[in-house]
Amino acid sequence: MSKEWWKKSAEGIPEIKTDTPGVESRRMHESTARYMKGLSSQVKLFPVCFAEGSGIALTDVDGNRYLDFSSGIYVTSLGHCHPKISEAVAHWAGRLMNAHDFSTPIKEKALEKLVDVLPGDLNAVQLYSDGTAAVEAGIRAARAVNNRQEFISCFRDFHGKSMAAVSLAKMTRGDVYSYGATRAPGFYMVPRPNPYRPDFAKPDGTIDTDAYISFYEQFIQEGTVGNVSAFVLEPVQGWGGSIFPPDDFFPKLKSLCDKHSILLFVDEVLAGMGRTGEWLCMDHWGVVPDIVTLGKSLGNGFPVTAMVVKEEYADALEKISASSSYGGNPMACAAALASIEVIEEEDILENVRSVGAYFKRRLEAMLDAHPIVGDVKAKGFLLGVELVKDKGTKEPFEEAGKLVYRKAFRKGLAWIPAGHILRMSPPLIMDEHYAGMGLDMIEESIAEVEKEFGY
Ligand SMILES: Cc1ncc(COP(=O)(O)O)c(C=O)c1O
Repeated sequence: MSKEWWKKSAEGIPEIKTDTPGVESRRMHESTARYMKGLSSQVKLFPVCFAEGSGIALTDVDGNRYLDFSSGIYVTSLGHCHPKISEAVAHWAGRLMNAHDFSTPIKEKALEKLVDVLPGDLNAVQLYSDGTAAVEAGIRAARAVNNRQEFISCFRDFHGKSMAAVSLAKMTRGDVYSYGATRAPGFYMVPRPNPYRPDFAKPDGTIDTDAYISFYEQFIQEGTVGNVSAFVLEPVQGWGGSIFPPDDFFPKLKSLCDKHSILLFVDEVLAGMGRTGEWLCMDHWGVVPDIVTLGKSLGNGFPVTAMVVKEEYADALEKISASSSYGGNPMACAAALASIEVIEEEDILENVRSVGAYFKRRLEAMLDAHPIVGDVKAKGFLLGVELVKDKGTKEPFEEAGKLVYRKAFRKGLAWIPAGHILRMSPPLIMDEHYAGMGLDMIEESIAEVEKEFGY
C-alpha cells in the first residue's frame, strides 16, 4: 500500500462552512449529554460531533472538515481508518471474535511482532483492552515479583481512573480523579523534574537532576515503610503537558531503583509505539524498564493494550493469573500486528523524527516571537506550548489556553489541549505541509489572544 494513502482525503482541509460547533453538532451533543455524564472538559468547551475520519482529516456532522492534531486522544496515530488496520480487524470480526485465553494464529503472530520491537528482554506479555487495566495488572505483577507492597509515583502523571491508577496520580486541576482523599494507602507521590519549573535547581537556575535523585533516596529510606515494590511513572508527562525530563534523569533513576531493588515501571500508554520517534520513549535514554505498559497507538483505535515485564519476572504473570475476557481477542491482536507492520512498512519512525524536527524548529520560533509563550516542548510528535501571563513570573495563563483552543478549532484544527499547556499529538503519518498548516492555525490564534489581552 502507498504511504500516500491518506493524501486524497486530506485535500481541501480545513473546510469550515458553518459556525462551529454547528447546529447539528450542538443538537447531537445536547441529546447525548442528557444521558452521558462525566464528559471531559475539552468536549464541554467545544461540543463538536464527528461523523467520519480518514487519515489526518475529520468531518463533523455539519459537514465541516478539520485537520487532526490529536489522533483521537493519542490513539489513532497512524491515521483514522488506516486501510490495512481496518481490513485486519474486519477480517477477524468475520472469522473469530473471542477465544478467551486460548492461542489463535493471529495472537501468535502479534506477540512475536510486539516482542520483536521491544528493547532488552521485555518479553513476558499480557494483553488488555484499556490502559488502566494494563497499569492495574502491572501493579499486581510488581507485588508478585518482589513481595513488597508500596509504590512511588509522580505528581501530575496520569495512569488511568481505577482505584490503583488514581492512587498513583494527582493531577494539576485539583484531585479530580481520586475524588478527594480516596487514594489507597502505601502509594506515595514525589515531584518529577520539569526543566521549565524546577523544584531543585543548580545555582545557574538549570534543573538539578542529582538533587531529585537524592531526594528520592532519602524518601525511600525515611518516608516509606521500607517496602517499596516499584517506582511508577510516565517516560514523559503526557496528559500533564508534554513535559520531558532532562536526558540524565532516567539513567540515574534506574541506578537508584537497582540500588534499592525497586522495580522501574514505566507507563508508555501515551508516549510509546512511535509517538516520539522511537518504539518506546525510553529508547531515547537507553534504559530498559522492568515493567512497561502500552496502549493507545498500539491498536490505532482498536482497544488493545499490553503489560510487559522482563523475562526474569515472567513468573509473576502466572502468580497473578494475569489474563482477562477481552485481552488478546483476535480483532485486538490483528489491530496490534497490523499497526506495528504499518510503522515498519511506512517508515513511520523516520517520518516522526524528520517532521518532528520541523515541529521543534517552528515551536522554538514561536517561543521567541510571542510574549505569552513561556516554554515549548517537543520530541517527535509529542508537543506542547506553555502559555504564561509573564515570561518572568511564569504564571500559567489558563484563560488564554481555553481561548486559543476554541479559536484554532474554529479555524479547522481538531485538537485537545485544555488549561494553559497546548498539547498536540498529530497523526504520525503527517508531512511538513500539514504540520505547518496546523501550527499556523495555532500561532494565528495565539496572536489574536495576545491582541485581545493587550500584549
Ligand atoms: C500514561 C497513561 N496511562 C494510562 C492511561 C489510561 O488509559 P485508558 O484511558 O485506556 O484506560 C492513560 C490515558 O490517557 C495514559 O495517558
